[in-house]
Amino acid sequence: MTQSAANGDLDECPEYPPLVARANAICGEVGFALTREDAGQDRPSACLPGVGRFLAVLAAGCLGGRIGELGTGAGVGSAWIASAMPADCALITVESDEVLADAARRVLAGDPRVEVITGDAAAVLADQGPYCLLFADSGLRSPGQFSALVSWLRPGGRIVMDDLVPVDAPQRGSPAADAMKRGFFAGDSRLTWTEVVLPDLRNSLLVGTREPEAADRTDCGPCPV
Ligand SMILES: C[S@@+](CC[C@H](N)C(=O)[O-])C[C@H]1O[C@@H](n2cnc3c(N)ncnc32)[C@H](O)[C@@H]1O
Repeated sequence: MTQSAANGDLDECPEYPPLVARANAICGEVGFALTREDAGQDRPSACLPGVGRFLAVLAAGCLGGRIGELGTGAGVGSAWIASAMPADCALITVESDEVLADAARRVLAGDPRVEVITGDAAAVLADQGPYCLLFADSGLRSPGQFSALVSWLRPGGRIVMDDLVPVDAPQRGSPAADAMKRGFFAGDSRLTWTEVVLPDLRNSLLVGTREPEAADRTDCGPCPV
């Protein structure tokens, strides 16, 4: 696979981390698409490199924290996260498809910080928080499910959803699905959130930070002028 705008990455980006390169190769072996275009309508695909790099940035800040991923696929997002997260951080990733979960285990087997679990992601992850980062990538459909995920974040924790198309992008995405995702973030008053357009300008993601509890807030006083 070339690293270019065609797959959501920048031409100038350096090589992928070795774990990510391995996950990309395993996707080829098990027939898990690397892009939405390759996957086709309503079929899952791996997170784009631009999403992976974004997850890596967030994961790198999860000192002593726990990260959860809903929907492992063949391990591409996990590979980005594991490549960047601190040594004292743990990643639990859950995939309902046994073949894909096994593929991801082959990618991540050498890393004791990472657990790949076969099952229903929400059921598995519910009791294992609080999380400093959740990558909600299993296609959840209801505001109630989304609200539960936000509850599992620790104050200051982040939640990410991808696979959106920026509103001004020339190509058509799934406007109804994108509107639903934006509605999840906009509808949860605990989140400070935004949409981030990837460097290819054709794809975007949503990221929200759970606000600190009132007791944890520090009043930094008036801003100096
Ligand atoms: C978009 S893909 C995940 C891609 C992956 N996160 C990555 O970064 O490459 C969505 C995955 O979620 C899985 N999935 C769907 N429903 C699920 C559920 N309830 N629990 C766990 N996995 C689920 C699908 O089998 C599919 O592999």
